[in-house]
Amino acid sequence: MIIDAKMEKALNGQIRAELESAYLYLSMASWFDANDLPGCAHWMKKQAAEEQEHAMKIYEYVVARGGHVILEAIAAPRNEWKNATEIFQQTLEHEQKVTALIYELVEKAMEMKDYATRGMLSWFVQEQVEEEEHAMEILAKFKKLGEIPISLAMLDKELGDRS
Ligand code: FEO
Repeated sequence: MIIDAKMEKALNGQIRAELESAYLYLSMASWFDANDLPGCAHWMKKQAAEEQEHAMKIYEYVVARGGHVILEAIAAPRNEWKNATEIFQQTLEHEQKVTALIYELVEKAMEMKDYATRGMLSWFVQEQVEEEEHAMEILAKFKKLGEIPISLAMLDKELGDRS
């Protein structure tokens, strides 16, 4: 069944949101690179790459349903932060916003009886649990250890190990 125009528009909006996430995380990576935290920069680059994969998952789904992917404008992301803790606080809040967007899409799919889209979104519902969990864990470590040189060096090394 060809995708409904309203759902196509909503999914195009989510493609934008995922690419906007990639842009934000790449900006955070750039801040870490500029502030001598290469491990944190590595983690954020991986995160940005994952967001692009999320966008492409939806892109391919829209195409598979006979829809047309229309790319929307993305605003310039924030580029200054006080410290790493503030960055991971924003990361968590950003992921919570994305989770809310995914839930809205799920509700829309249910209202429209678009079971294929509902099924496709299940992966995203689970992915958001992990995304929030990872951001919470990292934020908790930064808060617990504080941003003194020795703990920053330790956390930077740990985040640099993300595969
Ligand atoms: Fe694609 Fe981090 O949500």
